Formats: sequence, C-alpha cells, structure tokens
Amino acid sequence: MLSMGISQLGLAQQRAVETNRSDEIKPVVTKAPLYAGLQECLPLNYLEQEKFVAFEEPVAERPAPLGFAFEINGEKVAASNRAKLQSVFAESQLVKVPHGKSIQSIRDEKDRPVWIYPTGTEVVHLISFRSKEKTIFELRMIRKLENGTWAYGSYSPSLECQQGLKLNTYSGVPPYETTFLNEENQATSVKLKRINLQTCRGCHFSDSPADYQYKTKEEAGPCGFVPTNPHLNSSWAMDYFNKTTQIIFEPQN
Ligand code: HEC
Repeated sequence: MLSMGISQLGLAQQRAVETNRSDEIKPVVTKAPLYAGLQECLPLNYLEQEKFVAFEEPVAERPAPLGFAFEINGEKVAASNRAKLQSVFAESQLVKVPHGKSIQSIRDEKDRPVWIYPTGTEVVHLISFRSKEKTIFELRMIRKLENGTWAYGSYSPSLECQQGLKLNTYSGVPPYETTFLNEENQATSVKLKRINLQTCRGCHFSDSPADYQYKTKEEAGPCGFVPTNPHLNSSWAMDYFNKTTQIIFEPQN
C-alpha cells in the first residue's frame, strides 16, 4: 500500500477504453455566479483543520493574477513585476481530496494523462501579505461539484464570519487598500484592484498546461494541479499519504 506512488501507478495504468467525457458530464447552463455551491464562511484555520496538503505549481508562462493596478507605498507597480509583488505577497497552493476518495488517473484517446477528480475535491491558491502577523489577502478555492463542474470562489478575512473568511461576492474589479507592518516592522501600504470573479474559469480553461483535460469551458478545473505538473509525479503522493493516511491516486485494474 505504502509503495503506491504516482509513478508506479503510471506503469499500472490501462488505457481507458472510451473516455467520452463530454457525454458523461452535462453541465447545467445557468447564469449563476461561479462561486455558487461554495460555503459562505470558512474558519480561519480551515486548511489546517481539513488537512490540506501543499503542492508546487509548474512554472507558469502567465502566472495567476493577484489583482491589477497595484500601488505599493504610493508607487505604481506593474502586474508583470512579479519580484516586486512577491516582496509584499506570499503564495501557496494546497489540495484536499475528500477522505476515502481518490483521483482516478486515466488516458484519453491520444494517450494523454487525464485525472478524474472526485466530487468535493478542493484546490486552494492562498495569497497572504508578508506581514508581521500573517494576514490572508485571498484564499481562492475551486471545488468539484456533484454535477461535474467546479465552483470558483475567493475568500477574505471578515468580521461577518466570526473573524473567519468570507466568500467574496462583489462584481467588477473593486478597489482594495490596506496598510500593515511588514516582517521588518515597516508600515507598508498596498492598493490594487481585485480580479473579476467571473474570469476565473475562462482563464483556467485556456491557461492550464493540461487544458486538454477539459473538453468544455464548463468542466474546467485546476490550472496547475494536473497530471502534467512534474512536481506531482515524484514523492508528492507519498507526502500526501504521510500527512493524511490517504491514498490519493486510484490504481487502474
Ligand atoms: C488570468 C488567468 C487566471 C485567472 C483570472 C484566475 N486564475 Fe487561478 N490560476 C491561474 C494559473 C496560471 C494558476 C497556476 C499557476 C500559478 O498559480 O501561478 C492558477 C492557480 C489557481 C489555483 C491553485 C490550484 C491550481 O493549480 O489550479 C486555484 C485554487 C485558483 N487558481 C483559483 C482561482 C480562482 C478562484 C480565480 C478567480 C477568483 C482564479 N483562479 C482566477 C490562472 C488564473
């Protein structure tokens, strides 16, 4: 059991006879916001409580936007100036597969690896400020829903959720502004415009290195937590097992 890493699984994989996934998944076409299906409030320690496990993203040609129209300490900063933004923001990515479930790894008709994520899978992009007291800017989450599509939401700290995290429901690109003490105890001010909550899925559909996994935009899910991410092909599945005693990839037989 312990030796069931993803690489062994790769060897054991059989070609799925037919993977006509667009027939399988019939997305409901509605005007519902992309965050429909997500909880309104999450406790501040949600990721620890639910035993999320961190993973590394592949190097993205176009990394996920943190926002745009940045000003740091009164100075305009281009969204492409990643180094400067990283002096203010810290990012990490984490995943949780519901207990007792695993990801099914199959091959499509062109022999490319495809992951079938179980309902309830949650993948997180955590964006925090490099502040003295760690403060979350946004916890972005995607969650696999019963109907085969993914909900996309972004949470921020809010008093309305007992100091926990509240699902953002704004429209457009509202301005955001904060001041905090950085790790060196210096006051730092950050101004930006938040990203549009309706753009998440479209970008994940077109920008994922494994975009072939998603036959339609409605099915689009993880951008970097995909079978072509080299960081997930090594000891990562074992790391997940060690932290959760859960086998994350399902062998094909
Ligand atoms: C313009 C493109 C773009 C937009 C818009 C975008 N993302 Fe992403 N997202 C990415 C890319 C690229 C990655 C992986 C690499 C990285 O983080 O830089 C990613 C990573 C993630 C991850 C980490 C897990 C993974 O590998 O998919 C989550 C969760 C996520 N995004 C959620 C969201 C949510 C929620 C929104 C909307 C509020 C959103 N994203 C908007 C491009 C985008």
